[in-house]
Amino acid sequence: MKVLILGAGGLTGRYLVKEAKRRGMEVTALTHCDLDITQPDAANGALLKFQPDCVINAASLTRLERCEEDPVASRKINTTAPADWAKECGKVGIKFVHLGTDYIFDGTKKTPYVPEDPASPLSRYGHDKANGEKQVLLANSQALIVRLAWVFGHGGSTFMSQLPGILAEREVVELAGGRRGSCTYAGEAARIILDLARGDARGIFHGVQSGETTWKEFAKKAVELMRGRGGKVACREIRELSLDQIPGMKVARPAFSPLDVQQTEKFLGRKIPNWEKGLEEYLAEIGF
Ligand SMILES: NC(=O)c1ccc[n+]([C@@H]2O[C@H](COP(=O)([O-])OP(=O)(O)OC[C@H]3O[C@@H](n4cnc5c(N)ncnc54)[C@H](OP(=O)(O)O)[C@@H]3O)[C@@H](O)[C@H]2O)c1
Repeated sequence: MKVLILGAGGLTGRYLVKEAKRRGMEVTALTHCDLDITQPDAANGALLKFQPDCVINAASLTRLERCEEDPVASRKINTTAPADWAKECGKVGIKFVHLGTDYIFDGTKKTPYVPEDPASPLSRYGHDKANGEKQVLLANSQALIVRLAWVFGHGGSTFMSQLPGILAEREVVELAGGRRGSCTYAGEAARIILDLARGDARGIFHGVQSGETTWKEFAKKAVELMRGRGGKVACREIRELSLDQIPGMKVARPAFSPLDVQQTEKFLGRKIPNWEKGLEEYLAEIGF
């Protein structure tokens, strides 16, 4: 299978490229520098040039604060461009895979969100990503949307990605409390996305690891695993702060957004490893 990966320089994009190559797929990886997905005719031109069987869109404006500051860019990257790509792929029978987020939910539910739960976003990012999902499926009923949450991996700028380094260096670690959600090692996210695409899944699926957590529970588990591996851990105390006490986290995030993966597991015919396994895999990868 020939796969074209958009946003290939991002956290999930890089793991997708690696996993697709490991599977022997023919991969065209386009970073933001190689191709701006919002450019007019970008989709049409790239599809003609590279002739893929499948396009995976890992490009997105993911920083919530940036989306609030520049709503035009957020709408273009997170809603309009994905819908254009979905439409162009649909016209020529190329599979289109788009990535979604748990931030389309408001967090008021008491049990994990299932794919059909209605979106009720709290932020510009969540709003534009929710619209993106809707517009993609309207433009191309065969498209696949895989929702991720709290992704961590090598070289990632997300808090969970950087946490092992922080725990190794700092005696007191302060992090955002009051939120519960799903998380995913980017390597497992890539496996789930490619497995769903290979199985010709359509519609919305959740692509996170099983189980739910908070940043504090995640940090405590990381400390335990790092110590167990004989790694350096300076951290003696983990303090939870409210979102408004953390610089750069002024935009509302859902307090509760675990994603239910039963439908994904049923489709794939396998259990998705829990997030603790993903964390172990990540720590082994980065040598902590
Ligand atoms: N990270 C998470 O915790 C998380 C959670 C839930 C869902 N997701 C979803 O997962 C997907 C992948 O996210 P990620 O974590 O891999 O994010 P990421 O590391 O921020 O990667 C996104 C990539 O998209 C690129 N990009 C931005 N605008 C573009 C444009 N106009 N044309 C082409 N490329 C562009 C970025 O390049 P520049 O940096 O150069 O702009 C970046 O390389 C997104 O759909 C996101 O909504 C992520």
